[in-house]
Amino acid sequence: MTTTTATAPGKVILFGEHAVVYARPAIAVPVAKVQASVTLTDGPPGSGCTIAAPDIGARVRLSAHREDPLALAVRLALEEAGIQAEPDWQLTVRSDIPIAGGMGSGAAVSAALVKSVFAHTELPASAQPSAEAVNRIVYAVEKLHHANPSGIDNTVVVYQQPVWFVRGQPPQPFNIARPFHLVIADTGIASSTAAVVSDVRRAWQDDTVGYEKIFDGIGQIAGAARQAIQSGDVNALGPLMRENQRLLRQLDVSTEMLERLIATAEEAGAAGAKLSGAGRGGNLIAVVESEKVVTVQEALLSGGAVGALVTRLGS
Ligand code: MEV
Repeated sequence: MTTTTATAPGKVILFGEHAVVYARPAIAVPVAKVQASVTLTDGPPGSGCTIAAPDIGARVRLSAHREDPLALAVRLALEEAGIQAEPDWQLTVRSDIPIAGGMGSGAAVSAALVKSVFAHTELPASAQPSAEAVNRIVYAVEKLHHANPSGIDNTVVVYQQPVWFVRGQPPQPFNIARPFHLVIADTGIASSTAAVVSDVRRAWQDDTVGYEKIFDGIGQIAGAARQAIQSGDVNALGPLMRENQRLLRQLDVSTEMLERLIATAEEAGAAGAKLSGAGRGGNLIAVVESEKVVTVQEALLSGGAVGALVTRLGS
């Protein structure tokens, strides 16, 4: 009996969520402090393929749940690897990425499943499906979660690098010239990306000119942020986050709790903060100088965040 393990990180969008669905650029980074992992073990002959996620009480058989996201990730990976017969495998998913929190938990679970299948097939390196193939499969599964994903979540968790992302174009990994710290705080409020993205779509249909203008503004902020990150101008990032959050408010994807925690982070010394992901709950991020990280983290936790982790971007 052999066992294979594969992992994928969480992610946060630094700048550009929602506008990225409408082909404006966005920046996202992997967050390795939270991970999805999959253990794949051979089962007895004839046992078939089962995927279990005990933390959320899910258990699906590949043959019976062909359109379930967990099963779809495995089925598409098997197809890509050229395996036709259902294998006798037990796949177990574990993840400490907050679910429905804007940190890419669905994409990370799919990526870890696909990677575990490819690794377990023991194809020679030259015949292993590429990262691009993993990304394509994870994107297909993302479409089950919400009908119109931009592709940024799957891209950043699969490539595990900071990316500059424009829908429909190859992702551009980029360099962080000077390290900086983020505090990532969880409101504890689950938010459905599908529901928020479709609300924004309805509002865009009602006021296309107004929304396009907001998306343009967000795209320009993402461009300025990329320049700042690549040139080491870390001080520019706080004001850019504040400005991005102002525009996200105009899209009506923020909430009272997010606003309160963002204000708490800034009052405690963050240079700027914003929601990250779809909004209406989920996580917020704050860019913070290293000596203020603990103060901001503690302020967020005593202000009602259910979790606050610190990550350093750039080496
Ligand atoms: C979700 O993490 C980010 C959104 O921009 C949706 C998407 O890009 O598909 C809200």
